[in-house]
Amino acid sequence: MPEIKELVKDLADQHGRNRESLLPILQGIVKKKRHVSENAMVEVARELDMSAALVYGTATFYSFLDTEPRGKYVIRLCRTITCDMHGKKEIMDTLKDLLKINVGETTKDNRFTLLETNCLGWCHKGPAMLINEKPYTELTPDKVSEIIEEYLKQEIE
Ligand code: FES
Repeated sequence: MPEIKELVKDLADQHGRNRESLLPILQGIVKKKRHVSENAMVEVARELDMSAALVYGTATFYSFLDTEPRGKYVIRLCRTITCDMHGKKEIMDTLKDLLKINVGETTKDNRFTLLETNCLGWCHKGPAMLINEKPYTELTPDKVSEIIEEYLKQEIE
C-alpha cells in the first residue's frame, strides 16, 4: 500500500525513528486513517526497524489507538464508577437509540462509532463522553440528543 508507506515515512521524518517516536507515529496514523491497520503496523516496524510485535503491542495497549476501522466521529462514553452512578446507563441507552448501533459498532454511513472507555478525568462533571478529542460533560439524554444532532448537520466525506 504505497499510500500508507508514504504516510509512515512522512510521520517518521517528522517524529524520528526511535522507540519514543512510535506513539506519535501511531497517533498520526489514527488521525489520518481513523485506525492503525495491520498493514500500517508492518510498515511502521519496517520504517523504524523494530519488531512488528513491539508495534502491535503498543498499538493494542492503548485503547485510544484504534486498530479497527472507525467512523468519522468516535464517541467514547465513560464507564467508570462515578459516571456510572451519575446515570451513564441512560446516556448509553440514548446514544444507542439515536445511532441505532451497539457498543463497538459503527453506523452504516461510517459517521459514528460508539465505544466505552475508562475514566476521562471529568468525574466531577459526569456522565462524560468524548467525541474524537472533544469532551462533553454533565450529560443528560436531551443534551446528548442535541449534541448528536449538531454532528449530523456536519458534512461527511
Ligand atoms: S468516572 Fe467518568 S470521567 Fe471519571
